[in-house]
Amino acid sequence: MAKNVGILAMDIYFPPTCVQQEALEAHDGASKGKYTIGLGQDCMAFCTEVEDVISMSLTVVTSLLDKYGIDPKQIGRLEVGSETVIDKSKSIKTFLMQIFEKHGNTDIEGVDSSNACYGGTAALFNCVNWVESNSWDGRYGLVVCTDSAVYAEGPARPTGGAAAIAMLVGPDAPIAFESKLRASHMSHAYDFYKPNLASEYPVVDGKLSQTCYLMALDSCYKQLSHKYEKLNGKPFSLSDAEYFVFHSPYNKLVQKSFARLLFDDFIKDPSSVDEAAQQKLEPFANLSGDESYQSRDLEKASQQVAKPLFDAKVQPTTLIPKEVGNMYTASIYAAFASLIHNRYSVLAGKRVILFSYGSGLTATMFSLQLRDAQHPFSLSNIAEVMDVAGKLKSRHEFLPEKFVETLKLNEHRYGAKEYVTSKDTSLLSPGTFYLTEVDSMYRRFYAKKAIENGFAPASNGVIANGH
Ligand SMILES: CC(C)(COP(=O)(O)OP(=O)(O)OC[C@H]1O[C@@H](n2cnc3c(N)ncnc32)[C@H](O)[C@@H]1OP(=O)(O)O)[C@@H](O)C(=O)NCCC(=O)NCCS
Repeated sequence: MAKNVGILAMDIYFPPTCVQQEALEAHDGASKGKYTIGLGQDCMAFCTEVEDVISMSLTVVTSLLDKYGIDPKQIGRLEVGSETVIDKSKSIKTFLMQIFEKHGNTDIEGVDSSNACYGGTAALFNCVNWVESNSWDGRYGLVVCTDSAVYAEGPARPTGGAAAIAMLVGPDAPIAFESKLRASHMSHAYDFYKPNLASEYPVVDGKLSQTCYLMALDSCYKQLSHKYEKLNGKPFSLSDAEYFVFHSPYNKLVQKSFARLLFDDFIKDPSSVDEAAQQKLEPFANLSGDESYQSRDLEKASQQVAKPLFDAKVQPTTLIPKEVGNMYTASIYAAFASLIHNRYSVLAGKRVILFSYGSGLTATMFSLQLRDAQHPFSLSNIAEVMDVAGKLKSRHEFLPEKFVETLKLNEHRYGAKEYVTSKDTSLLSPGTFYLTEVDSMYRRFYAKKAIENGFAPASNGVIANGH
C-alpha cells in the first residue's frame, strides 16, 4: 500500500477584483465595525462577468500542472468539489478534461461532489482513498475546489467570496493524511440550501447555521478524541496539534469555534487549562448542550481565555479567508494555504487538525502530518508557487456601487443563454481563463489571456464546449 498519501502540491486562484469590507459597511448603512470586527472580514473577492467557477478551475489546474512540471498524462483521477451550479447534469470535471484530452489522456476517473462547502473535502477523500486502494494505477489524483459565494442583498452579502484551489494527491506527500484520525458528523438540517434553481443565491438561516456548525464541531471533536485515545491510550486535547484549520464562512465563527474546542477540553478535563481559565469557565460547566450554544457569556469568556492559543494555533491560517471571503468548498483549503504561506519553514514534523463543514449538513475533522519532501513538492516550493502575497497585492479594489452593479449583471446572466461577455481581460493576469460567450444552446466558451501580449482571441485559447 502507498505510504504517507496526501497533498503533494497546491495552487490557488482568486479573482483580482475585490471590495473592501469597510467601504461595503458604509455603503450598506451597517454600523461601523460590523463587517470588519463583528464578522472579522477585511475584503471580499468576486467574479466579474468574465469569470466563473469553470474559468477559475481551468486557470488553477493549468497553473498547477505548469508550475510543478506535471505531465497531464500522469493524472489518473480528477475530482471537483463545488456547490456553484452552472449545469444540473454536466460536471465541471468534464470542462477540465479539455486540458487532458489535448495530451491524449482521457483515462481519468472521478466527477463532481457537492454538498454546500463540504464537496471539496469529499473530493479530496476520494482521491486519497483511491491512491491508498487496490484500484490505484500509480498516477496522481487531482482535486479542484471551485466556488463563487454570492448572497442576495441583506446581512449575509458581506460573507461572500470566490476562489479555486487545486491539490495534487499521491504518496510520500509533504502533507500526509493520518488516515485513522478522521471523524464525521452528518445529519439533516435546513441551515443553508439552494432550492431555487433559477437563482445562484442560497436560502440561509445564518444563526441556525452557526449553531449547526458548532454542534457538528463538538461531535467531530468528541469522536476524534475517542479514536485518538484508542490509538494512543490518552485523550486528545488542543496541545496534541500545532495548528487548527477551520472552514471559514467568516472569521468570527472561526474565533468562536476554536474557543468552543477549548471549552470542550475544559469540560473533559478541567486541569487541561490553566487556573485562571478554569475560574472563568467554571460558571458554565453545568450548562446543557443547548444552553451552551445560546450563552453569549460563555462565548465571550471562552474566546477571551482562548485568545493566546488562538493567536498561536489558528491566526496563521486566517489570512486568505479574511482577505478573499467565504470560498465555500475552497475556504478550508485556502485557510490551510494561508498556514503554508505563513509557516512553511517550521511545519515539518507538525500535526495540523482540519475541520470541514458543509451546511445541510456534513462535517469531518481530520488530521494531517507535515513532512519534508523533495523539490518540487517541498512546503517551501508550495508556498512559492501559490505566491499568496503577490496575488493579494495585485488585486483591484472596486467601489461598493460597482460591486453591486456586477452582482446585478451576474444575477441577470445566471442560467441565461445567447450572450457574449465584454471579453475585457484588462484586470486579469496573463494565463487566466475567461468566459467569452454562452451560445443559443447554453454552451459555454472560454479563452485564455495570452502570456506574452496580454490578449488572446477565443480561437487562441481553449474552446470550452469540447469541439
Ligand atoms: C453571519 C450572519 C448571520 C451575520 O448577520 P447579522 O445577523 O446581520 O449579524 P449580527 O447582528 O449577529 O452581527 C454579527 C456580529 O457582529 C457584531 N457587531 C454588530 N455590529 C457591530 C459593530 N458595529 N462593531 C463590532 N461588532 C459588531 C455582533 O455583535 C455579532 O457578533 P457576535 O456574533 O460575536 O455576537 C450573516 O452574515 C449570515 O447569515 N451569513 C451567512 C453565513 C453562512 O451561513 N454561511 C454558510 C454556512 S457555513
